[in-house]
Amino acid sequence: MGARFGKDIPERDGHGGREVGHVPVLLKEAIDFLDIKRNGTYIDATVGLGGHSYAIARRLGAAGHLIGFDKDPAALEIARTKLAVGPSSLVVGEAGADWPTVELRHGSFADLANDQRPTTIDGLLADLGMSSLQLQDAARGFSFQAEGALDMRMNPQAELTAEQVVNHFDERELADVIYEFGDERRSRRIARAIVRSRPIRTTVQLAEVIAAAARPMNQAERRIHPATKTFQALRIFVNRELDDLRALLNAAPQVVKPGGRLVIISFHSLEDRIVKDAFREGVKQGHYRLLVKKPVTPEEEEIDRNPRSRSAKLRVAERV
Ligand SMILES: C[S@@+](CC[C@H](N)C(=O)[O-])C[C@H]1O[C@@H](n2cnc3c(N)ncnc32)[C@H](O)[C@@H]1O
Repeated sequence: MGARFGKDIPERDGHGGREVGHVPVLLKEAIDFLDIKRNGTYIDATVGLGGHSYAIARRLGAAGHLIGFDKDPAALEIARTKLAVGPSSLVVGEAGADWPTVELRHGSFADLANDQRPTTIDGLLADLGMSSLQLQDAARGFSFQAEGALDMRMNPQAELTAEQVVNHFDERELADVIYEFGDERRSRRIARAIVRSRPIRTTVQLAEVIAAAARPMNQAERRIHPATKTFQALRIFVNRELDDLRALLNAAPQVVKPGGRLVIISFHSLEDRIVKDAFREGVKQGHYRLLVKKPVTPEEEEIDRNPRSRSAKLRVAERV
């Protein structure tokens, strides 16, 4: 089926590297492991800019169904345009008639736990973390390299912002967040410097406070900016990323059909540990069989083409 679609649909899913701005990570591996069944129902839990979703949709056929989640309405808008391929579409010509139903939902994939339709899903993909859209938009505050407000919310309707954590948490709470979600051993020193420098309003201001407080002590620390781990911690905490991931993994055995695949791409060890443990527990409970023992990582060629992929780890389990 891939070959037929390959002729009809312009290459926009990254295999040819022709997409500008956003390149889906481990695309071929994710699609191969999902083992997409024509006419099936699939969930893309993290639609982002729709790169993986597009590659799934083009393999589903008109009777297929793709359900996509994202917390970020700006990403969903872009994905909606990209995935709006119907019978009348000029972009794909005749292939539009073979396009599945695409349903995009604004919200967390953790909401799957409340889903009313158990065991109807043929496969689920989650490509965790933030999108290039989020990272590159300075105003959203994800990057310490560009001046922006301390926001960091993936969902702009969520209440908690990084600014509130940075300026209103007490020193101990702040140190705990930085330690727990950033794996940052200098968390206490950084928290103390932040509290002394309040109010802190921008990303660059925060990065400078951290850099002054936590000078690199060895070669390994010199390789990354001193603010990297604190920014990661704030982002994970503000977006409840680990809680949401646990909720998704809890719900997955109830929603994925026997034979269906669960493919998770993570970008740091906190996430990967949660996925690894949930899959192991799932095997013990008789829910899953593991399709790879060790996580799949990108080839060097992918890392060269897309440096963001360098820390990606893909794990896959099959519902039994
Ligand atoms: C790495 S990007 C996904 C990129 C996507 N696979 C693509 O090819 O364009 C991760 C996306 O997941 C979203 N996200 C992160 N956590 C989420 C959650 N708990 N629920 C829904 N969306 C989430 C982010 O807003 C972001 O748009």
